[in-house]
Amino acid sequence: MSNTNRQPEVNIGLVGHVDHGKTTLVQALSGEWTDQHSEEMKRGISIRLGYADATFRRRPDADPPECYTVEESVDGETTDVVRTVSFVDAPGHETLMATMLSGASIMDGAVLVIGANEPVPQAQTEEHLMALDIIGIDNIVIAQNKIDLVRDREAAMENKRGIEAFIEGTVAEGAPIVPVSAQQEVNIDVLIDAIEREIPTPERDADADARLQVARSFDINRPGTTADGLMGGVIGGSLSQGRLHVEDELEVRPGREVEEGGQSEYRPVETTVRSLQAGAESVEEATPGGLIGVGTGLDPSLTKGDALAGQVAGPAGTLPPTRDSFVMDVDLLDRVVGEDAQEIEPISTGEPLMLTVGTATTVGSVTSARDEECEVALKRPVCAPEGAKIAINRRVGSRWRLIGVGTLR
Ligand code: GTP
Repeated sequence: MSNTNRQPEVNIGLVGHVDHGKTTLVQALSGEWTDQHSEEMKRGISIRLGYADATFRRRPDADPPECYTVEESVDGETTDVVRTVSFVDAPGHETLMATMLSGASIMDGAVLVIGANEPVPQAQTEEHLMALDIIGIDNIVIAQNKIDLVRDREAAMENKRGIEAFIEGTVAEGAPIVPVSAQQEVNIDVLIDAIEREIPTPERDADADARLQVARSFDINRPGTTADGLMGGVIGGSLSQGRLHVEDELEVRPGREVEEGGQSEYRPVETTVRSLQAGAESVEEATPGGLIGVGTGLDPSLTKGDALAGQVAGPAGTLPPTRDSFVMDVDLLDRVVGEDAQEIEPISTGEPLMLTVGTATTVGSVTSARDEECEVALKRPVCAPEGAKIAINRRVGSRWRLIGVGTLR
């Protein structure tokens, strides 16, 4: 990669319990230049998406890990670009698990943030790790944060042993545990070094047809904008393959809901790419990997308030089918994650499930259930290929809980 290319090439999730410091850590890692986003895209991506880009750099005169920094120059010497990454800052609050799961579908790896000043594990530390396991994200780095609040070295070591015991036998077993203080910016170089080693940029087919997994969508117009100043709808997401260019024609599926004669159905929408934003810059071409913002010619009322989140975009005729129902192979966990740890009963016909398929979250009703497969009728259709992984959630008490993983037949 060239020294000037700042398009993000990998998506890294920031996951963990509420208040353990995910947002603060993203700030420490992303330096200041994310502020160069154009005002619209900044409002769109950095704020509403909970995403931020970071360019990792290295000082030419030092070795890892000390060489790593996010500063453009250190002691008057310019640093070299290593790579730009997008951070997906997943909400830690329990009711936002669905958002975490749909974000997880575009994560290539994750930093699990664990507060060093609390017993391990806290509820969402465990639940998020289980979600990574289920979705198959095994490139993990653990940030043992708030190390500045820990009494002494022995207390830090004891907390570290707690983390090691907790991750034993999980997808995170053996992951590096890096003590950091996000707030005091301590050990950020060591954390970058661990991310560089554990979360490589995956190989993606940049020559295939473009496929954009839409994570968010918005109307970036300020209230009161006049008709001729109105900007088209913006969609934000990640290219899992292919490239996008300004002026490309796009189809978005499942599309928009159309009511006709008392019946409602989803019809694909078509539009043109008007602008592209990647790595804090307007670009003519976006490549697979991190988060991008796509300005389109769509009516902003179609994209407002995440209305297109969970959909898929690409050249017309190349997208996977839209499905109102599907059959999936099911692999259930033994127990619900968390303090209550109830046993998980088999899925039964008629029960509602919340399903995360790619970046889409939809509710389905089970129309037929057997031991290891079930058929669901969806409230809102999804556009997904055969073999897609599905996170399955069941209502337990007042909330949706992750109970297993499905594979689309
Ligand atoms: P949610 O997004 O709500 O899940 O929280 P979060 O995990 O993003 O936590 P956030 O970054 O908002 O930090 C929570 C609080 O912890 C804030 O008051 C931070 O200032 C503080 N904090 C974060 N990192 C550190 C740290 O390294 N040391 C200390 N002392 N405080 C920290």
